[in-house]
Amino acid sequence: MNEALSARHLLGIDDLTAEDVELVFRTADGFKEVLARPIKKVPSLRDITVANIFFENSTRTRISFELAEKRLSADVVNFSSSSSSTKKGETLVDTVNNILAMKVDMVVMRHADPGAGVFLSRHVDARIVNAGDGTHEHPTQALLDAYSIREKLGRIKGVKVAIVGDILHSRVALSNILCLRKLGAEVVLCGPTTLMPRYAKELGVEVTHDLNEALRWCDVANMLRIQLERQGGDGIANFPSLREYAMLFGLDRKRYEAIGKPIVIMHPGPINRGVEITSEVADGTASIILDQVQNGVAVRMAVLFLLAGGVDRTPKA
Ligand code: NCD
Repeated sequence: MNEALSARHLLGIDDLTAEDVELVFRTADGFKEVLARPIKKVPSLRDITVANIFFENSTRTRISFELAEKRLSADVVNFSSSSSSTKKGETLVDTVNNILAMKVDMVVMRHADPGAGVFLSRHVDARIVNAGDGTHEHPTQALLDAYSIREKLGRIKGVKVAIVGDILHSRVALSNILCLRKLGAEVVLCGPTTLMPRYAKELGVEVTHDLNEALRWCDVANMLRIQLERQGGDGIANFPSLREYAMLFGLDRKRYEAIGKPIVIMHPGPINRGVEITSEVADGTASIILDQVQNGVAVRMAVLFLLAGGVDRTPKA
């Protein structure tokens, strides 16, 4: 069996074949076992240096990657935009060239511009992992979401997933759609018309604006965060009020119980509690939100380990 990824970088989900995704999952299964041990560290990335470059805010993704790298014994450096020279007018390429001059092998990058990772991969000689590029993609989130569904339901093929909320501004939505469709799941998008991209149907998914209908249909509901920072204006330019949004598209216990069957509840975090989901549902027994966070470390370990398999370890001049 070929135990290498067909991709050199992970910039978007379509860098991976379905076989690649399966390999990431099998590898993550092994790392999950490691993470359950008293000593959670393996030497797999010893002598590999990883730079985490975050030009946009992040808490859980940054910590998850850093933990994954440290569990693999990589050397880790962290840059964030507030402390780097990009604030002084340095370009993205300059920043990264400087980092690479310090012999960094892999870069994990979050950036506000869609395509920033692709741009970087064309200019620098390191493996790039996209940790979110604006409203475009967030491939490791989609991998950990699909992995968590597989863990909970034992399969992904044929599973019905409703992705609910601010699809238009969500990089999690696009990566999830591409990943789930690649693995044979059925996907329905649900949200207000103003938060639904026009190209939605071209991605091979159905669209509904009726949350109750979507919930009755699905096995899994992924309740996305309203991306308040990306709406423009006062933060709610695309719908009348958060209260109305919560009434029409929020998931509370009453709505959950009315579905009449158990479904799996997911959320990528951070949660606007009481808007897209109430605390009762987010913290209830149907929710796998904390499993998603836990699986994120193992899945990111798998991605980094597999991509590093191709890193040239011969001494550099
Ligand atoms: C997501 C993101 O940053 O795109 N969060 C995350 O990675 N933990 C989703 C979100 O911010 O809503």
